[in-house]
Amino acid sequence: MTTFQNDAITLPEAPTRHPGLLAWVSQTAELTTPERVVWIDGSAQQHREIIDDLVAAGTFVKLAKKPNSYWCASDPTDVARVEDRTFICSVDEADAGPTNNWMDPGEMRTILKDLYRGCMKGRTMYVIPFVMGHLDAEKPMFGVEITDSPYVVVSMNVMAKTGTRVLEKMGPSADYVPAMHSIGAPLEPGQADVAWPCNDTKYIVQFPQSREIQSFGSGYGGNALLGKKCYSLRIASAMARDEGWLAEHMLILKLTSPSNVVKYIAAAFPSACGKTNLAMLEPTVPGWKVETLGDDIAWMRFGHDGRLYATNPENGLFGVAPGTGWDTNPNAMRAIEAGGSVFTNVALTDDGDIWWEGMTPQPPAHLTDWHGNDWTPSSENPSSHPNSRFCTPIRNCPILADEYDDPAGVPISAILFGGRRKTTIPLVTQSRDWAHGTFMGATLSSETTAAATGAVGVVRRDPMAMLPFIGYNAGDYFQHWIDMGKGADADKMPKIFYVNWFRRDEDGGFLWPGYGENGRVLKWVVERLEGQVAAVETPIGHVPAPGTLDISGLDLDEGRLEQAVRVDPDEWKAEIPLIEEWFDKIGEKMPTTLITELNDLKARLGAA
Ligand code: GTP
Ligand code: MN
Ligand code: MN
Repeated sequence: MTTFQNDAITLPEAPTRHPGLLAWVSQTAELTTPERVVWIDGSAQQHREIIDDLVAAGTFVKLAKKPNSYWCASDPTDVARVEDRTFICSVDEADAGPTNNWMDPGEMRTILKDLYRGCMKGRTMYVIPFVMGHLDAEKPMFGVEITDSPYVVVSMNVMAKTGTRVLEKMGPSADYVPAMHSIGAPLEPGQADVAWPCNDTKYIVQFPQSREIQSFGSGYGGNALLGKKCYSLRIASAMARDEGWLAEHMLILKLTSPSNVVKYIAAAFPSACGKTNLAMLEPTVPGWKVETLGDDIAWMRFGHDGRLYATNPENGLFGVAPGTGWDTNPNAMRAIEAGGSVFTNVALTDDGDIWWEGMTPQPPAHLTDWHGNDWTPSSENPSSHPNSRFCTPIRNCPILADEYDDPAGVPISAILFGGRRKTTIPLVTQSRDWAHGTFMGATLSSETTAAATGAVGVVRRDPMAMLPFIGYNAGDYFQHWIDMGKGADADKMPKIFYVNWFRRDEDGGFLWPGYGENGRVLKWVVERLEGQVAAVETPIGHVPAPGTLDISGLDLDEGRLEQAVRVDPDEWKAEIPLIEEWFDKIGEKMPTTLITELNDLKARLGAA
């Protein structure tokens, strides 16, 4: 084994006088022994230089057909969030709860410190000051990510506000979340690098009490862009509980009716279940308009008027590529046409463009697939990984709402919960009240997708679409949701709905056409908010009364619509034991309010 001289590295002049940050940066450099340290300044020039390095290293391929856009492929083992390697290291195990992996924080720090020792050898250590949300928010949500991955730097520059302006706003004493990341692939002198270095050992670790993040071994978005899931959901959810607000896995959209009534709607669907699609919807119902505020994360706080206001903390879109096409999500297609994007694990066309399954009805005759192999329409495997992604500045979105940039956020009128269920869950159901809506969210279920490693298509509970992202005990999280409604004026709270675009017929076909047609469901939601349409009360909540869901001009026979909205008591009786099993898993922290909701549901179904 070769040994290396551990020369003390010279730190560049730092663009900050924040003593805590300076100390952390120098300690980290000492531990990880990079070749050099670079502070990310947020300039276009530095961004370009790092991209040039990535092209030179063979990680990025510049696309001829899209302005300032790049293709890259990850290591085939590093393609999604690793939920089994994700930990909430609270001081007490009980505070992580039954849905998170836990390890004693001290023990975890020791493991990670050993992994980080010398882990940046031969590489550059980048320091990325960033803010999630508005720089001029009442209390800006600062973070600093240290990483040895230039791919992460480029992606963070798109997804967050980064650089010197953040340091200036932080001044010498602001609190920030230290977010440590390494791909865990030191380079020995003379050793050739690979296009996507990573490590088989992976840890994605949140310390919710000290508000710290440590990630090792993966370069994939959700594991490595630490401002996103790790900070804006896991750490932020713990902050939100302490401070009386909500950090949620939700899109935010602005809906304008033909008579110019404006409503803001938030919706929580599990990963790869349609948030980005709904956020950029082009409604097919005449006169209705959707504008985008966010496609993945919403922070919701009470305003002075007692209403719940949402902001999107992100600056970019990190969307699922396959299935995104001119017919399903034309606004996402326009956003990526506008340039400045990074595409990961999609296919390359021969003329320097990108392609993925579902982009066009006919695939090109020849592609380079995400493994770098030749691909033709007769190839056995898809050209793109099912969790391949586009990373694009949100300002590219052609229907971005002006309010996107308002630090005060927008008042939310309705919250939609939804999952991917072949059976049981109707197209749309309105909850009876906030507690019942919280019950709907807490029992949300969905078939698993490729967005996380593991089996695909298995029904699991994914409460509020937050199962992988709740930074503390899920039972406490449900109680926090209930408490948010308790002190509030019920009239001012958002009304909660449960939707399911994915119900199937006996032949496995979707009962509801989805996509742009989902605007019809949004219309029904607004008409309910305005008291303009009737609903039928069922044991599970209020579903559209016959004739109230506008299907004019839609080629859908009444029978299929009936099947899509139907509440089948037998299916629901079969669902009850699954919900009970879930409640048992949460255990004694399950709020009594939700146990009462379950008992009431059973009584209404005659299943008590
Ligand atoms: P994350 O970004 O991982 O959190 O996921 P997301 O919720 O943003 O998922 P996205 O909008 O990218 O949806 C991905 C998948 O859902 C794609 O396979 C889409 O084709 C499918 N999808 C979205 N909307 C609909 C719909 O209305 N009907 C049907 N059948 N499929 C849909
Ligand atoms: Mn997501
Ligand atoms: Mn998305």
